[in-house]
Amino acid sequence: MSSKHGRTTPADALVIFGVTGDLAHKMIFPALYAMAKRGVLNVPVVGVASSKLTMGQLRKRVRDSIRQAGKIDDRAALDHLFSKLQYVSGNYNDPDTFSALKQKLGGVRRPAHYLAIPPALFATVIESLGASGLADQARVIVEKPFGRDLASARELNRIALSVFEEDSIFRIDHYLGKEAIMNILYFRFANSFLEPIWNRDCVASVQVTLSEDFGVKGRGAFYESAGCLRDVIQNHLFQIVALLAMEPPAYQGFGAVHNEKAKVFQAMRPLVPDDVVCGQYTGYRKEPGVAKRSEVETFCALRLFIDSWRWAGVPWYLRSGKCLATTAAEVLVELKPPPQRLFDDSDPAGGRANYLRFRLSPDSAVALAARVKRTGKEFVGDQRELFLLDEHPGAELPYERLLSDAMAGDGALFTREDAVEAAWAVVDPVLDAPRRIHPYKPGGWGPKQADVLIAADGSWHNPVPEKGAS
Ligand code: BG6
Repeated sequence: MSSKHGRTTPADALVIFGVTGDLAHKMIFPALYAMAKRGVLNVPVVGVASSKLTMGQLRKRVRDSIRQAGKIDDRAALDHLFSKLQYVSGNYNDPDTFSALKQKLGGVRRPAHYLAIPPALFATVIESLGASGLADQARVIVEKPFGRDLASARELNRIALSVFEEDSIFRIDHYLGKEAIMNILYFRFANSFLEPIWNRDCVASVQVTLSEDFGVKGRGAFYESAGCLRDVIQNHLFQIVALLAMEPPAYQGFGAVHNEKAKVFQAMRPLVPDDVVCGQYTGYRKEPGVAKRSEVETFCALRLFIDSWRWAGVPWYLRSGKCLATTAAEVLVELKPPPQRLFDDSDPAGGRANYLRFRLSPDSAVALAARVKRTGKEFVGDQRELFLLDEHPGAELPYERLLSDAMAGDGALFTREDAVEAAWAVVDPVLDAPRRIHPYKPGGWGPKQADVLIAADGSWHNPVPEKGAS
């Protein structure tokens, strides 16, 4: 069991299991390079993988990864990263791998172990870390997906907690490391004007869309084991919902935020098949690693209810998909119309009611839409947006932020055991339920059945691709 007193003491080494894998290449090396540029990477970084690589080959991978993510614009930072880098090759099932790692770590006392490996290997590595004494005073950073349903998440939590304490386990959801998403929490509770309207009396519905205009990008084999609901909805979109729906934290500190977010998941009504529409883009079955008759969803839309005092009766619509019209993430909180129709054009059927819109990516903005009178004798107007573009020059990459936080022992932006399990409990009833997968053409907004799902409460708001007001 890892010791409590190391909780906020910085880790003195970073161990990356799966250092030759996709995640390390796409996300971790660029994050480490960014940390080196900021001067905050000052511990050994030990990569572990089964391939027999020379240090020269590993460095080449690092260089390629940084080039792919951007460019190498600080030679000294790259050399610094290389000077910290070490490598252990070995099979995760072999105790010798962990002995070799222990030897390489030498005098290190509080390593942070990053499991950038397929979920099927999490248990093996966590147990071996425990058995080899490498878990003492250590932390473990676990990538999503954390489990693939409620039962496997519980089992994984059980294994992780048999070796590490909860506050030494850092479950990553990289959406929590994004500035625009952190701003939801800040915007809600740093302003006073929102609270009186932020409830079932004034809010008609809430929509969250995460759309991507590309397919599975060579990750077909992984995607076949996940599908859209497991890949992004149960985690990324649910985290956004929790920040939008939570009660004010009872005190300043992230323990309180974790408590309130967990309560949101606990109050979510478990899904039933009628709440869910699944789709698959035409061409998915021809992607490498995808079964010819695959029934895995690349699009998912769902209707969700949060049975709490604040949100009783308010429908939440969530939607995500690959190969849609644009790449963007957006939230639309639609307000109820005024109680009386005082003007000819105040019929909400004539357009969308007032709303608050959070643009989360690719750019970040908050917009409040309100009707404003047109010039002239008539009392008619237009819905216009008060638009606040939020720029984040110099913002840390999500992985840079989360990696630094985990190394420092700051668990604020990570997910907690009870919250992860409560989120799985919501989707669990529909994960393996029989369902129809509706085909859709790439470049649109998914199958039309998703429009039917939302029809009783209006229509989907489709994010626009370019920067600026819609
Ligand atoms: C990942 C999913 O967790 O999130 C991907 O596995 C998805 O399928 C990605 O594309 C989206 O993240 P972002 O930061 O690009 O919006």
